[in-house]
Amino acid sequence: MEIDRYERIFLLATLVFLIGAAIALIVSVVGHHASLPTPSGRVAPEDVTSTPPFDDLGLHETGEGTYDLVMRAQAWQWVLDEEDPTVSEIRIPAGSEVTLIAASTDVVHGLKITETNANVMVIPGHISEVTIDFDDPGEYTMLCHEYCGIGHHNMAARIIVE
Ligand code: CUA
Repeated sequence: MEIDRYERIFLLATLVFLIGAAIALIVSVVGHHASLPTPSGRVAPEDVTSTPPFDDLGLHETGEGTYDLVMRAQAWQWVLDEEDPTVSEIRIPAGSEVTLIAASTDVVHGLKITETNANVMVIPGHISEVTIDFDDPGEYTMLCHEYCGIGHHNMAARIIVE
């Protein structure tokens, strides 16, 4: 069977692309440990407030220059302090490594921190975790990037690195 020259070139190009994509996938998974996002744990939305670490919200120093920031996502606020729901900012020294730990008590929220590559979904039933190095002083906004209802645009808090 005679295959047209251009068809042969096209078939060869397709084959080269497929093999290249397969190699890139294997290198990403094996060499760089790329994986699908997975929750770091699970908690039922109705149990969030009574389940550690969410029974003790806020910033906790876990070592020299390392912190956990535990927060609850609920329409339409990042709750950082159980006693005082008006708290919407935390302060940390420059050079800190902060692990944000969040769970939702209601709908799907999204956690994006400006000026960083932190971007995770906060899905009811899942515990979402992301670790960020805050080397440079400045104000970083934690905003909700998943439409969660009429007050979605108000769902923001700040991390002040000083
Ligand atoms: Cu929470 Cu949008």
